[in-house]
Amino acid sequence: MLKGKIYTNRSTLKILVVFTGLIIGVISIIYTELLVSELRQREYDQIDFFAKVQSKLASMNGQDNADVTFLLMEVIQGNDLIPVILADENQYPISSKNLEIPTDLNNQEKLVYLSKMIKEMEQTYAPIKIDFSNGEVQYIYYADSHLIKNLRFAPLLQISLFGILALAAYLVFSTSRRAEQNQVWAGLAKETAHQLGTPISSLVAWIEYFKTDEDFDQSIIEELQKDVNRLEMITARFSNIGSEPVLKPKYLESSVRNAVDYMSKRISAKVSLSVDYDIDSQVQINISRPLFEWVIENLCKNAVDAMNGVGKIHIKMHLTQHKNTAIIDISDTGKGIPKNKLSKVFNPGYTTKKRGWGLGLTLVKRIVEEYHQGKIYVLDSVLGEGTTFRIMMPIMM
Ligand SMILES: Nc1ncnc2c1ncn2[C@@H]1O[C@H](COP(=O)(O)OP(=O)(O)O)[C@@H](O)[C@H]1O
Ligand SMILES: [Mg+2]
Repeated sequence: MLKGKIYTNRSTLKILVVFTGLIIGVISIIYTELLVSELRQREYDQIDFFAKVQSKLASMNGQDNADVTFLLMEVIQGNDLIPVILADENQYPISSKNLEIPTDLNNQEKLVYLSKMIKEMEQTYAPIKIDFSNGEVQYIYYADSHLIKNLRFAPLLQISLFGILALAAYLVFSTSRRAEQNQVWAGLAKETAHQLGTPISSLVAWIEYFKTDEDFDQSIIEELQKDVNRLEMITARFSNIGSEPVLKPKYLESSVRNAVDYMSKRISAKVSLSVDYDIDSQVQINISRPLFEWVIENLCKNAVDAMNGVGKIHIKMHLTQHKNTAIIDISDTGKGIPKNKLSKVFNPGYTTKKRGWGLGLTLVKRIVEEYHQGKIYVLDSVLGEGTTFRIMMPIMM
């Protein structure tokens, strides 16, 4: 069915985007890990090579170790990436390279610092041993180069970039889609109002004609008049929602009571409708009356639907503490809304009814929030006990 499809499509798309993001993330992590381990091997080989050169040089000319060490460090100049510390067998640092040593340290502090680094390096990689022909031993301690460390961040960077891209794309698409939907929706409403206009004016003319006909049963005229009024109201609603509606100051109490009275005549006698008004009756709100009544009607109709014909609907009105907003709570003793559906009830197409279209609450939200700068939400809902919808309307000062 059409109404369900919109939703499944949208959530499939969401799942697809998240899934793609995950796959990109995983591939990128695996690939980076491969690069990292390859680089590590290279770095190890390099250090190992230094160690070999060191031993070789020492055995070749039997020179003093300090000189050879100097030579070694020269060779290591070729390595400008891997942090290394050369130390004797007691872990006493001899020299270091590619380490970020704080510049304000004196020699003693530098030694302490290097010893600490040796302990840290030792945790990750076992040092490479250099055997000298005279029996002396030295060790090269080393750590991951910056290259490896930075590479580790690559997947994170890629995932965040993908996330930002997906979010941007989503925002762009959803705003343009919403704009298009609004246009279709408003256009259809206006067109309907327009088309209803002609037959209604014709009906009005017929009623006037029969009013003058004494042979005609005048009680029928009354009923006809009511139906025509109703049709006119529907037309007014459609034309109001189809264009920027004109808001006028109206008394809050009478506006709500009117809508409720209208409803109470049309619902089963087993549903009681009561209004509790705790506001100065002179309080006014700026509304489009046809639309505002539509809101109350829609909420009452949903309440009736939720309770299988028997129950209570209670409408309570009061002002907020700052007296600048009217609160209208519409409570019912219906079946309630499951917690995980609370965020969905205002979505177009969401319905649990066989013959529902799931547009009532969408329309209600739009009327309250976009046309009247108010707010509407589910204040409370308990399964099997009932639901309360809350409307907040700015009042006129
Ligand atoms: N007062 C209520 N109590 C319980 N469920 C409700 C109530 N109002 C709305 N709902 C739920 O929200 C859904 C959407 O309502 P609505 O947008 O008016 O569409 P429809 O009435 O066509 O289903 C309903 O199908 C129902 O499941
Ligand atoms: Mg409804």
